[in-house]
Amino acid sequence: MENQYIQWFPGHMTKTKRKIKESLKLIDVVVEILDARIPISSSNPDLAELLSSKPKLVLLNKCDKANRNATNQWITYYHNKGIKAIPVDCKSGRGLNKFVPAVREILSDKFKAQQAKGLKSPILRVMIVGIPNVGKSSFINKISKQTRAKVEDRPGVTRGNQWYTISSDLEMLDTPGVLWPKFDDQKVALHLAFTGAIKDNILDIESLAMDFLELMQNHPTDEFLARFKLKADDIQDLQPFEMLELIGRKRGMLISGGEIDTERAANLIFDEYRGGKFGFITLEYPEEL
Ligand code: G4P
Repeated sequence: MENQYIQWFPGHMTKTKRKIKESLKLIDVVVEILDARIPISSSNPDLAELLSSKPKLVLLNKCDKANRNATNQWITYYHNKGIKAIPVDCKSGRGLNKFVPAVREILSDKFKAQQAKGLKSPILRVMIVGIPNVGKSSFINKISKQTRAKVEDRPGVTRGNQWYTISSDLEMLDTPGVLWPKFDDQKVALHLAFTGAIKDNILDIESLAMDFLELMQNHPTDEFLARFKLKADDIQDLQPFEMLELIGRKRGMLISGGEIDTERAANLIFDEYRGGKFGFITLEYPEEL
């Protein structure tokens, strides 16, 4: 994919990185929220090094839209690296009951050590990190409701940082600052755009749709083909623009003169894909790493 039509103007990461570094002193576990459909593209490339001193829990969010087999592959991938990963759907709340037990499991040695010394269990503190649109607010809202978490602002600790009390022995810190994905990698940019992590109004939607259709041409799902009454062979030899026109024609999207409204067709493709109408599609697999 060599298109350069996705332009990025990310803010500076330096301040966020410094704040995260400062906050690391206050926490025991980092919770990284990723999009289960694009675990590579939805991660921040600088985090691994920055956070290496702390244990990590990965939440594979939006698993309701991902391919279940692929999500399981990702869980195994993380497991083999000694990292616990759990699939969650922060829109419905599915899977979130595993969150607190997972944090406790990660910190069980710390618990045991404290108990062996006859000390009361310490308060566990976690920090939530994730790129914009990955579902951080949804996670915090859902977990707060489930646990009736109290929101606290603690001026003087790290100004502006938001702490949530999840239970008497578990507290959560929202990320201080914004983390960006690896914008300069065009494949990453496309995957973020396909999944809707980037607002469409800054994108050339027809070019984006053509890139998406190339993906469907190479890996068509039954749902995609059925949706447009196509056979895999029908699209095999088409150019991307021809596929876009074909889909517009199938849906009767004509403008004056009998031309096909390819912009409308492009918007339709993303509405349907993001609405799950093309099946559960994961765009990235562990073997790509
Ligand atoms: P952020 O704080 O990390 O920026 O993300 P936020 O929670 O605002 O979520 C971004 C979008 O992703 C929201 O959709 C949200 O509803 C959706 N979302 C979050 N988690 C999940 C999930 O597990 N599954 C699904 N299917 N969607 C999820 P939106 O369209 O911007 O808002 P809304 O219309 O859904 O409220």
